[in-house]
Amino acid sequence: MILFLQKNDVKKVHLRRAQPAQNVIFIFYWKEVVNTEMAGLIRTQGLRKTYGSGENAVRALLPCDLKIAEGETVAVVGASGSGKSTLLHLLGGLDTPTSGQIFFRGRDLSVLDDDALSEFRRRHVGFVFQNYNLVPELTAGENIELPLLLDEKQADRAYLDAVIGRLGLRDRLAHYPGELSGGQRQRVAIARALSARPELLLCDEPTGNLDSATGREVVRLLYEIAAEYGVTLVLVTHDLGIAATAQRVLTIADGQVGGDLHAC
Ligand SMILES: Nc1ncnc2c1ncn2[C@@H]1O[C@H](COP(=O)(O)OP(=O)(O)OP(=O)(O)O)[C@@H](O)[C@H]1O
Ligand SMILES: [Mg+2]
Repeated sequence: MILFLQKNDVKKVHLRRAQPAQNVIFIFYWKEVVNTEMAGLIRTQGLRKTYGSGENAVRALLPCDLKIAEGETVAVVGASGSGKSTLLHLLGGLDTPTSGQIFFRGRDLSVLDDDALSEFRRRHVGFVFQNYNLVPELTAGENIELPLLLDEKQADRAYLDAVIGRLGLRDRLAHYPGELSGGQRQRVAIARALSARPELLLCDEPTGNLDSATGREVVRLLYEIAAEYGVTLVLVTHDLGIAATAQRVLTIADGQVGGDLHAC
């Protein structure tokens, strides 16, 4: 008989058997260490980012302890240069902290090497940026499927088609980004960010280049899709009207993440 045991099971087995059985082979394996206290999707502990050193050091994010629950929508507001993008990049593994930790479903991201971190990003995080970041030589449809191609993953056709439909892009898939309006480009970027079914969607001023009506429509779609697929949404915005529609508003000033404001 072969028993596969985790480290913590060893004691139990020894307690139960005073005499080791001859016919049992114990194979111990080590699972990745997971912090089981973690209740939400993300928890940070003393998360800090300083760019440069000495006289040129920029303390972009001061030590920050933060929890974000599964499925939560969180807006991040603050003045230009206050550290919003820095926080977002750290949460999504686009950048590494100077010190402190980020736990994603209990998994400590700060111990991952570059390859593991990029795999983590591809599988678990979608990013949406102000300037869309679409590849101009690819059609909308090709842009949307690009993350899957890079990860050599098959598209979940039914899911992707539902997302594309929800974003009103069905008749635009063959168009190149240069042939799309700003709102359409951003909707393509959202579909691309969602294509690998990430648990976390990080949006850095997604409406920054859009007029306010189009911006609000894009954010409405983001919330709807996040709710429908249980995606956790963190949204940086300068628009307080948009921020107020999130379940929670985090303020940030000079790198200090302030008390949570609950949106009304
Ligand atoms: N790569 C970098 N090297 C040095 N300093 C940086 C770097 N990236 C950001 N900073 C500095 O860190 C601070 C926070 O920058 P960050 O981009 O997070 O601000 P932000 O709140 O997103 O601003 P904005 O609203 O203008 O996008 C700023 O003072 C910025 O100049
Ligand atoms: Mg920014």
